[in-house]
Amino acid sequence: MKKTLIVIGAGLESIPVLQRANEMGLHVLAVDANPQAPGFAYAHEPIIGCVYTPEITVAALTKWSKKGGKPQGVICAAVDAPGTVAAVAEFFGLTAVSNETARLATDKKAMKDRFRERGIPIPWYKEIFSAQELTQILEERRETLVIKPVDSRGARGVLRLVYESADMPDPRWAFECAKKESPTGRVMVEKHLDGPQISTEGFVVGGQPFCPGFSDRNYEFLDRFAPNIIENGGDLPSFLDQDTQAAVKELSGRAAIALGIENSMFKGDMVVHDGKPYVIEMAARLSGGYFCSHEIPWNTGVDFVGAAIRLAIGETPEAKDLIPSFQRGVAQRYLFPKPGKVIAIEGVEEAKAMEGISMVEIRTAVGETISPATSHPARAGVVMARAATREEAITRVKAAVEAIKIITE
Ligand SMILES: Nc1ncnc2c1ncn2[C@@H]1O[C@H](COP(=O)(O)OP(=O)(O)OP(=O)(O)O)[C@@H](O)[C@H]1O
Ligand SMILES: [Mg+2]
Repeated sequence: MKKTLIVIGAGLESIPVLQRANEMGLHVLAVDANPQAPGFAYAHEPIIGCVYTPEITVAALTKWSKKGGKPQGVICAAVDAPGTVAAVAEFFGLTAVSNETARLATDKKAMKDRFRERGIPIPWYKEIFSAQELTQILEERRETLVIKPVDSRGARGVLRLVYESADMPDPRWAFECAKKESPTGRVMVEKHLDGPQISTEGFVVGGQPFCPGFSDRNYEFLDRFAPNIIENGGDLPSFLDQDTQAAVKELSGRAAIALGIENSMFKGDMVVHDGKPYVIEMAARLSGGYFCSHEIPWNTGVDFVGAAIRLAIGETPEAKDLIPSFQRGVAQRYLFPKPGKVIAIEGVEEAKAMEGISMVEIRTAVGETISPATSHPARAGVVMARAATREEAITRVKAAVEAIKIITE
């Protein structure tokens, strides 16, 4: 009999996970609040639920199970919803993260408390309750800080505060900006750790960590979008030396285990500061932005999503399936048109036809309005290139981005 997999999330970026589940011969249920979610076209059964409200999703799935359905696995795809995954897994007795792990992975303050207890290197941090407190901390510490909502995602309300710089925002504005993005109205500050930033993605299998996903993150627009911190894609393989990469991977695995991840995947935001690795945060889910579904397989040959699905349905992937078999070049960049109304989009077909360009996805259309880039979902499109080397992939992706013109007025 076909095994049934519940996929939480049926948006555009969820599609590769839904497709992979189909290829693996599973019966696929997709859960999303939007009846028009594009991912539903890749599911055997659409379930209207809410990816960020576990009770609503569990209620919808209870109704489904009363008609005789029984799932063997649950996973979230391109949504940061480990709490919903954990609740569904607990309800049906499936392998996934626990409710406690999901809580630690989505509450940045609780996560850092756990990391501190377990000796995982992290930046200095503190929960704050007012703009005055922020001003006081800036005066005391006299260094660059990051203010962020405790429990948001997609870099919403995450601001870099460069002490005594000309573009230092008003602390009252910064505090409110972070606070309004937190569903619980909570805000924290951290020391900004400068240095190369890395996305890691891996698995813990029976308590043993594997970290095949490793991408340098591109922050070339730190000044352009200041004080927001907006990532512009990434490059693989990493430019870091092998020892540093190994240290970052080792720390990612330890951090995942510290959150209680036992048989599931993790996604790390890491930084190498003064030559030493630190954790900025660790998510207990698959990455978004096509990292797990495209960049990692292209870079390493590891079928990351396939392995994650196998873990979710209670199978044990073999170690050889989780270890890179090569290191090829992949580069990703996003499109950031000038804010305004889109009047024309040109060069897309030309970019698609360029050598090594493996994906061009335009996320806007003529007549739509481009808002200033203050969070990751605001990005207007994504381009990915592949090549034998990292350098060649970067050259290719830059040429394709140049060719695409999203004209606004
Ligand atoms: N203390 C820090 N030092 C250096 N960079 C930081 C720090 N905190 C956050 N950043 C940068 O800002 C990004 C967004 O912050 P964070 O991950 O906390 O927010 P988020 O809403 O979860 O964003 P995302 O969904 O993109 O991960 C981080 O991935 C990192 O690049
Ligand atoms: Mg993050």
